[in-house]
Amino acid sequence: MNNGLPRPVTAVIIVAAGSGERLGYGMPKAAVPLGGEPILMHALRGVVASGVGSQVCVVLPPGADGLRDLCEDFREELADGGPVLTVLDGGATRADSVRAGIAALMDGIEAVLVHDAARALAPENVFHRVVDSLAAGALAVIPAIPVVDTVKMVARTSGDDAAIAPELVTGTAPREELRSVQTPQGFRLSTLQDAHAAASGFDEQQAAAVTDDAMLVEMLGVRVHAVHGSTQSLKITTPLDLIIAEGLLEGPLGIRWVEG
Ligand code: C5P
Repeated sequence: MNNGLPRPVTAVIIVAAGSGERLGYGMPKAAVPLGGEPILMHALRGVVASGVGSQVCVVLPPGADGLRDLCEDFREELADGGPVLTVLDGGATRADSVRAGIAALMDGIEAVLVHDAARALAPENVFHRVVDSLAAGALAVIPAIPVVDTVKMVARTSGDDAAIAPELVTGTAPREELRSVQTPQGFRLSTLQDAHAAASGFDEQQAAAVTDDAMLVEMLGVRVHAVHGSTQSLKITTPLDLIIAEGLLEGPLGIRWVEG
């Protein structure tokens, strides 16, 4: 699991400040119950169990007092020698929430993993692959899995075409070169800081187009490496995802199913 190289002192930022509207529960996604516990707590337990972080920053929706209380209770469960747990409020966009996490890092942190709370079942071995890659010299590394669907580009139709169908295919991406990208995404601290400093002046449209941290690093011209992710790291976004996640936790395979 460990490539034997000295690992950087690492913090994990768990971003959990999204509204989670697509899940339709009328509460922040991180608070939605999964197997009897909020999604956030699965993510937090997974991060702590991986043992990769000296500090874990949980970024919450402002005013989510129930989640904040759960984090405070969890702090008491942490064994001596466990990570420092920092709990703070997020911002309007995911990138704002990541920036809030960066601002709360302890002195001495050398590398940061940014993890979506929505990927609550990400297995420990993915965290280790990401940190091993940082230890081997990566400035930026993401977990990724092959795409199973054929992916096409489309444009909205107008005029006569609109009467036939709402969209027209403009191209087909070569599937063998495509990857679905997950979290935790790992970065040397200075690389992540530079990437987010560059993005802090984005206008609303540019900010909305930022869907992960690695794309900000790519914009700096820094090489982003990819390690193998896991289908178990699914991003709980829709009610169907929640059913799948429940099935992974409670189904006949249960915890025996931990994909490599
Ligand atoms: O909205 P999206 O599905 O891309 O969110 C991915 C992750 O970013 C989620 O875990 C969500 O809680 C987090 N997020 C955040 N602050 C926001 C928006 C999203 O921490 N303002």
